[in-house]
Amino acid sequence: MMSITKLKNKQVLVTGASSGIGYETAIAFARGGANLILVDINAEGLAAAAESVRTHGVECLTFRADVADPQAMADLAQEVSESVGALDVLVNNAGVGFIGTFIETPVEIWRRLLNINLMGVVNGCSVFLPKMREAAGPRHIVNVASAAGLAPTCNMSAYAASKHAVVGLTDSLAMELAGSEVRVTVVCPGIINTPIAHASSANVGKSITREQLDRLAEFYRTKGAHPRVVGEAIVDAVLSDRGLVLVGPFARLIYNLRRVSRSLLFRVLIADSRKMGWI
Ligand SMILES: NC(=O)c1ccc[n+]([C@@H]2O[C@H](COP(=O)([O-])OP(=O)(O)OC[C@H]3O[C@@H](n4cnc5c(N)ncnc54)[C@H](O)[C@@H]3O)[C@@H](O)[C@H]2O)c1
Repeated sequence: MMSITKLKNKQVLVTGASSGIGYETAIAFARGGANLILVDINAEGLAAAAESVRTHGVECLTFRADVADPQAMADLAQEVSESVGALDVLVNNAGVGFIGTFIETPVEIWRRLLNINLMGVVNGCSVFLPKMREAAGPRHIVNVASAAGLAPTCNMSAYAASKHAVVGLTDSLAMELAGSEVRVTVVCPGIINTPIAHASSANVGKSITREQLDRLAEFYRTKGAHPRVVGEAIVDAVLSDRGLVLVGPFARLIYNLRRVSRSLLFRVLIADSRKMGWI
């Protein structure tokens, strides 16, 4: 079974491509000569991202779509198929966060996070996989989960649940497609310095204080990796056919701690959360 060996003229679709990890992933593929299809709910960001992608001398299409909307995703797949045929690489990256205790996470927030972070990935795989399977030659699906998909995360129960689900979904799909020409990768980034950590009333619970948010922002700013690191790791995973990508601060540490001892992992995470003033 061959994996993709060169990016030139490949068709790569990235969701959540207007910002952060999605944007840097698009740029990393463009640098290798791939053509890009950028998808995001934020149309302004899309136009700016497409402009930077095109400076690498590759083709770039943009589509405004909500990954959580199955009909919008089916329409997108139809348009993409008519424009460029079957995708070579699909990167399901779009995602949102919420910080707050479990008690302060309303059911609408649970729905929002599961709809975007989990069902967004489900929708992406559902609408693009059939044509990718039919087409001849190696193809690749990359789903962006998180280190929060491998271990518990204090004050982020909905986010952690959505990301654990993405890991479970992706690994199950990888098993199902083993032996086919479609490779599957789950990406678990640690702390990455992107706008996702910027607080707004839509993504923060009531009792989280300004001071806690400032400390979190400072933590992302000083300890977080640049999203470019994740984009490059995703390109590398496609070219070297890696099924699990642990990238950025703490991702590998958390993964290994969990394998060694669940109670040790909990002790370390609780101590860290106390130090951060989270609990
Ligand atoms: N930043 C981190 O520390 C980190 C760590 C692990 C995993 N991740 C994951 O990486 C992915 C990208 O996050 P980021 O940090 O680059 O965040 P970001 O906020 O910079 O980018 C997310 C992008 O997704 C888009 N988006 C949001 N909802 C959408 C929807 N319903 N449909 C289409 N597009 C939508 C946004 O407009 C934005 O452009 C997310 O899945 C996130 O959970 C981030």
